Amino acid sequence: MAINFKEKIRVIPDFPEPGILFKDITTLLKDGPAYKAALDALLAYAREKNAELVVGPEARGFVIGAPLAYALGVGFVPVRKKGKLPAETVETSYNLEYGKDVLAMHKDAVKPGQRVLIADDLLATGGTISATISLVEQLGGRVVGCAFLIELTYLKGRERLAGYDIFSLVQY
Ligand code: PRP
Repeated sequence: MAINFKEKIRVIPDFPEPGILFKDITTLLKDGPAYKAALDALLAYAREKNAELVVGPEARGFVIGAPLAYALGVGFVPVRKKGKLPAETVETSYNLEYGKDVLAMHKDAVKPGQRVLIADDLLATGGTISATISLVEQLGGRVVGCAFLIELTYLKGRERLAGYDIFSLVQY
């Protein structure tokens, strides 16, 4: 039977700020068949794109990106908030749905010309993914697709990422 993914995602009003309807994926993640089916859908997309590497921003991007990399048999590269990675990094600042930060990736993480899939739980304004794309491209990587569990279409992240291939499992 097909899984209704929206039913598995809990919506929390006024978190982390008044007026925000937070999409809580922990209820989907703890449900084995739902988590597996969601990853399988993203995996089919990743296979179509012939991804050679998966890049995921912390923290929830790890929960989506790492299992995809494992299933594809390719490497996984973490993008982290500034100051967390131990070796030399490339960095870029970005705006969040609420706030601002700097993201970093190891300088030797991506090879020039490598086909990179970016994976995260949620596409909101697209700030996180624009920054992640910039890091990958600074190293000469080729972003062949971006895969998300959730897309908040009213925040127009897709428009911000114009020119890139985007896949999302569930839209609000
Ligand atoms: C959330 C989410 C995405 C990003 C989406 O991460 O996991 O990475 O925001 O928003 P955007 O499209 O407007 O950039 P957050 O920065 O809250 O970090 P977390 O995963 O560590 O909670």
